Amino acid sequence: MTAVIMDGVAVSKEVRGRLAARVAALVAKGVRPGLAVMLVGDNPASRVYVRNKVKACAEAGIHSVMDEYPADTSAADVLARIRALNADPSIHGILVQLPLPPHIDVDDVLAAIAPEKDVDGFHVESLGALMAGKPGFQPCTPHGVMEILDHYQVPLAGRNAVVVGRSNIVGKPMALMLLGRDATVTICTSKTRDLAAHTRAADIVVVAVGRPRLLTGDMVKPGAVVVDVGINRDADGKLVGDVDFDSVKEVSGFVTPVPGGVGPMTITMLLANAVTSAERAAAAG
Ligand code: GUN
Repeated sequence: MTAVIMDGVAVSKEVRGRLAARVAALVAKGVRPGLAVMLVGDNPASRVYVRNKVKACAEAGIHSVMDEYPADTSAADVLARIRALNADPSIHGILVQLPLPPHIDVDDVLAAIAPEKDVDGFHVESLGALMAGKPGFQPCTPHGVMEILDHYQVPLAGRNAVVVGRSNIVGKPMALMLLGRDATVTICTSKTRDLAAHTRAADIVVVAVGRPRLLTGDMVKPGAVVVDVGINRDADGKLVGDVDFDSVKEVSGFVTPVPGGVGPMTITMLLANAVTSAERAAAAG
């Protein structure tokens, strides 16, 4: 059997089509969604990510402002800029690209973002809302995984879901989102004993640990749904996920590729959160 390849590029296009209608409705009411992106330092990967986010905003009709700061910028200056953006009614979302230079405390920075503008969903209040099942912004990557699963009509209630990875950005929120849809969720880590015993019992496996080709076909139940959040370079410099795609696609029922799976969804869900934030602001008058 060969798995259905879950196409993140196609799902992303569909979600962006729905967003265009929501942006048009806001603009008709005189509200243009606005996103502020802050980049501190000169991490080349961060620069590419930030540029892609700004470009995606332009394509979606979202106004964006981008602030670039040198690596030796003080934490006080970054916090002052966040406070100004919190108070700016033309800005509905604030994103500080991570990682930050080591002299800046990331927790202080994330805590300074107004939760109603926290489109990355990294503020403890956003994470707490997700845990409590209350409205808030959900982190973009696991939110994008949920969109892919829903697009392919993967049943979740009562199914065994295994999340490999326990980061605050992907693993933990992913587990909470699956739990919120009544899946039976197990979180595994890089230290889990007999990882394969857990993954072989799973109807749905999401892998987000940053280990090239960690999940192989012999670790997957026939017909299972496998989602690969990893982006790694192998020894030959090839872009690979945390899933050994070639062996897993022969066993699983559905699988996401790398590239072209979860990756394209992350920026799309950022746009979705920015539009939702603008809708909430417009409704609040
Ligand atoms: N660095 C890597 N991924 C992300 C992300 O989704 N948001 C932010 N702010 N920084 C990141």
